[in-house]
Amino acid sequence: MSKGSEPRKADFVVVANRLPVDLERLEDGTQRWKHSPGGLVTALEPFLRARQGAWVGWPGVADVEVEAFADGDMWLHPVRLSTSEFREYYEGFSNATLWPLYHDVVVPPVFDRSWWDAYQRVNQRFAEAAAEVSAEGATVWIQDYQLQLVPAMLRELRPDLRIGFFLHIPFPPVELFMQLPWRTEIVRGLLGADLVGFHRPGGAQNFMWLARRLGGFEPSRAQVGVRSRPGVVQVGDRVVRVGAFPISIASGELDQLARTREVQQRAKAIRSELGNPRRIMLGVDRLDYTKGIDVRLNAMYELLSEGHATVEDVAMIQVATPSRERVEHYKQMREDIERKVGSINGEFGRVGHPAVHYLHTSVDRKDLVAFYCAADVMIVTPVRDGMNLVCKEYVASRGDLGGSLVLSEFAGSAAELTSALLVNPHDLDGVKDSMLAALNIDQAEGRRRMRALRRQVLTHDVDRWARSFLEALGASPTE
Ligand code: ADP
Ligand code: G6P
Repeated sequence: MSKGSEPRKADFVVVANRLPVDLERLEDGTQRWKHSPGGLVTALEPFLRARQGAWVGWPGVADVEVEAFADGDMWLHPVRLSTSEFREYYEGFSNATLWPLYHDVVVPPVFDRSWWDAYQRVNQRFAEAAAEVSAEGATVWIQDYQLQLVPAMLRELRPDLRIGFFLHIPFPPVELFMQLPWRTEIVRGLLGADLVGFHRPGGAQNFMWLARRLGGFEPSRAQVGVRSRPGVVQVGDRVVRVGAFPISIASGELDQLARTREVQQRAKAIRSELGNPRRIMLGVDRLDYTKGIDVRLNAMYELLSEGHATVEDVAMIQVATPSRERVEHYKQMREDIERKVGSINGEFGRVGHPAVHYLHTSVDRKDLVAFYCAADVMIVTPVRDGMNLVCKEYVASRGDLGGSLVLSEFAGSAAELTSALLVNPHDLDGVKDSMLAALNIDQAEGRRRMRALRRQVLTHDVDRWARSFLEALGASPTE
């Protein structure tokens, strides 16, 4: 990480709750920066690095004051959160109110007025930080559900800026959104942007309906599609565009990385460490209740108990990154998952052959790609996911056309990855059947599906996503 000179005002600014790196405090009192978790950072970091922009975000630890610093060609501007703001704005309103509400109320959202106060206060701080670092007429791209009030707050401070907003999680059905006591404020906050982007057309459509119902503004009537013109909402004398932009990954880079000798050798080593099973099945997720990790464990349990699989024949690996560990439903879910893994292993495991290899950790990029290359079956079974990048990473890593993808219909990516084995995660028999089909897939059929998946993922990379968003925003995507 280079210190560099004084930060300049930037022409292109990303504002996200998290910086792309997290400050980690080690036991010996020292600290270091590590890569931040989640799909938002995976998608945006390569893009911003190439454009020498600035990134405004929280350094991942409460109560620390960090000066702006350069990371390669990118300037990072840390925003401070106090311990109580961390609890009320981040763990509370963002992750115990909005996250479950926007993910189909998979668990009940909590509506707490003091959390809402903290959310407003912290959004104002992010808006002020963004106003401070942006050059005259700059493009500012605000990210995700934690910062939905920032577009309007920033416009108030800096009317000269071009402001985009992108939501990385699903935008809920209107009936669910209407539960939110602060629904009008959120819709008005988002309408401060010049362009509001969602992964799927349904999200854009829902938002336009709400702009009329809650804001009293007149939206355009044409259906919003992925490749069609964005919708339009007239807000006073301003035009707000609303569109669908399915996010992706740096697929070309991943394809190259997967082909390196080092990764290929690591993949072989993983297989042999597992005792060279006939099939390896893999899940990789943040440990989140939306990801349906329990769904695949239940299906695996039944495959083993019905004799469709044995632990010598099939090794299942689940890599789960720790996430939001103090939020109640996350704690509960971790206990449930670990109990389930323990009981499956207790019942079916043999010495040297556990039924499920469970790693509660995040792994580095090369190891992750080696896992993808080693896996014959990738299981992605969220009950709701805005996009899901893990499945796209798996596809990008399989230049050998090997491997099968079992994918939930409830992930945004299912609309693009139609050659996957698509499953309804609520239908246990269906999930089991698809897992079994993937384990025994005919080689030619598997290659045909993977070829089609790769065509989609390699031609629709994150650069294309960012360009299409910025073009719709009317900001030239600078080289
Ligand atoms: P979300 O953003 O909800 O976490 P995504 O699937 O969109 O879900 O993105 C997850 C990102 O985090 C991917 O880039 C994936 O590679 C990464 N990731 C998930 N789990 C792990 C893990 N255990 N170790 C390393 N990276 C992980
Ligand atoms: C998802 C969200 C991101 C978030 C990430 C990790 O990808 O869309 O906004 O950063 O999960 O979650 P965390 O709470 O650790 O930032």
